[in-house]
Amino acid sequence: MTLRIITRSAEETRAAAAAFARNLRRGDCVALSGALGTGKTQFVKGVCERFAVGETVASPTYVLMNRYGGRDDKGREILLYHFDLYRIRYADEVHDLGAAEFIGGDGISMIEWSDRFPEILPARRYDVRLSAGSSQDMRTVEIVPVGVDA
Ligand SMILES: Nc1ncnc2c1ncn2[C@@H]1O[C@H](COP(=O)(O)OP(=O)(O)OP(=O)(O)O)[C@@H](O)[C@H]1O
Ligand SMILES: [Mg+2]
Repeated sequence: MTLRIITRSAEETRAAAAAFARNLRRGDCVALSGALGTGKTQFVKGVCERFAVGETVASPTYVLMNRYGGRDDKGREILLYHFDLYRIRYADEVHDLGAAEFIGGDGISMIEWSDRFPEILPARRYDVRLSAGSSQDMRTVEIVPVGVDA
């Protein structure tokens, strides 16, 4: 079932992401898409807040992947992997990163510009689509579970 949320600030997008993140478990993948500046990184920040990540969360534009350490509900360590495929040209480069090991692995993976390489995405994932609204700070956030049991 698609969940559609309208947000009016970056804070609201982060809060929506943090609320959604309560559903996330180890091995889950969040596949983000949306034009430049629509809030993909803000969404990732919100998920990281939910897992009490202390490090700075920023797009891994040059290193392609960031890894953050967080804590789950029970206070156990959980790893969050943050990819940004914007500058990637070939799916091979994603494979060379060893991405397959992280996506669907022991942590939670979040992939910005995931729609550029749909072939690398796991069958079970949450598609998160962001789009700009009619006013400057308005965004539509759509969350679509794909292959997730109800
Ligand atoms: N409702 C909103 N939700 C999210 N961000 C918002 C909203 N309103 C304004 N903003 C601003 O829009 C910008 C979103 O930036 P962000 O880096 O998250 O986008 P992005 O989709 O990751 O971009 P890129 O494609 O460059 O990675 C931030 O400067 C944020 O403050
Ligand atoms: Mg970004």
